[in-house]
Amino acid sequence: MSELQARGPLVLGIESSCDETAAAVVDVDGLVLSDVVRSQIALHAPFGGVVPELAARDHVRAVVPVVEHALTEAGIRLADVDAIAVTHRPGLIGALLVGVQAAKGLAWAADRPLVGVDHLVGHLLSPFLRRGDDAVASPPYPFVGLLVSGGHSALYRCEGPLAESIHELGATRDDAVGEAFDKVAKLLGLGYPGGPVIDRLAASGDPSRSFPLTPPMAHRDSLELSFSGLKSAIARRLEAGSLDGDEAVADACAAFQRVVVDTLVTKTLRAARREGVDTVVVAGGVACNRELRARMAEACGLRGLRFVAPSPRNCTDNAAMIAFAGAAKFVAGRTADFALAPMTVTELPRVTRKGRGLR
Ligand code: KG4
Ligand code: ZN
Repeated sequence: MSELQARGPLVLGIESSCDETAAAVVDVDGLVLSDVVRSQIALHAPFGGVVPELAARDHVRAVVPVVEHALTEAGIRLADVDAIAVTHRPGLIGALLVGVQAAKGLAWAADRPLVGVDHLVGHLLSPFLRRGDDAVASPPYPFVGLLVSGGHSALYRCEGPLAESIHELGATRDDAVGEAFDKVAKLLGLGYPGGPVIDRLAASGDPSRSFPLTPPMAHRDSLELSFSGLKSAIARRLEAGSLDGDEAVADACAAFQRVVVDTLVTKTLRAARREGVDTVVVAGGVACNRELRARMAEACGLRGLRFVAPSPRNCTDNAAMIAFAGAAKFVAGRTADFALAPMTVTELPRVTRKGRGLR
């Protein structure tokens, strides 16, 4: 057993919804005993985005060694876990299928309960994970959660750890924020994934030297988001040939990131005010963004709101957040049977649908 003292049930989590094969062992309080993430970035980089069939095949190769590694790192055997949690939605169907089938096999072999976890719930609970070395104070419920990743971008009111306590307040009508970072980086020839490289280049660029970008969905009362217009605006500048040289590219990155961050901070604070909550959480891969973290912390501080940002390693896809969300379901008696099936959509009810506004 790991030298960290686990309390209560231990859950093995498995994540394979997109391009990371991950497994982790976490206790019911969020203490992480192991957290193994095998990224497929190099596999998909030549294509500038995730290729679903390649992702599924690579998960097949990786899932057993990754689970074994997670158990070894935690210093336990499969028989020591109390439940096996797996991401079963939303995500790429072939990729999800690999994790779900592996989890079923392990649950059957070890005679342990199986728990199906929604990936978005996992992200929203990531600030509860603790490692001893990077202890972030857990957010109190209720909080407003801004979930910004490569596949999803939405604001939620979170009243507890179960899906029925999490309510979408508004979401993107088109691209997810991370998707916009990735597409803009691809247009600018900066490689994949785009978020980290734009984050880095933006720090050396000057947004005011670049061309103006209109903040999307700026209507006063809206909590909806939209990012595809920003990508198109940059594409038009490129076509017009006015984005030449490293300095112009860095300035464009800074301008793009500035308008995205402005939008996210404005909408998140609006949601907190409207919901009457005093805690704000950011989650998902884009929550690694340094300007977003700094500006959100500053804006929350000015308004007397508590701001909780998970450590960057807990923001990008991982299985520790899945194990923790699974532990909450396990103690609530929400286990699944072997009919558990992967699904491409989240179980969280939506108020905004892609391509459409509020219903
Ligand atoms: O949460 P995640 O690992 O996977 C999904 O569930 O989608 O998020 C991946 C996304 C990618 O689009 C990546 O470009 C973005 O997070 N990302 C960032 C940063 N680091 C990762 N975006 C902006 N700034 C960053 N520093
Ligand atoms: Zn994710």
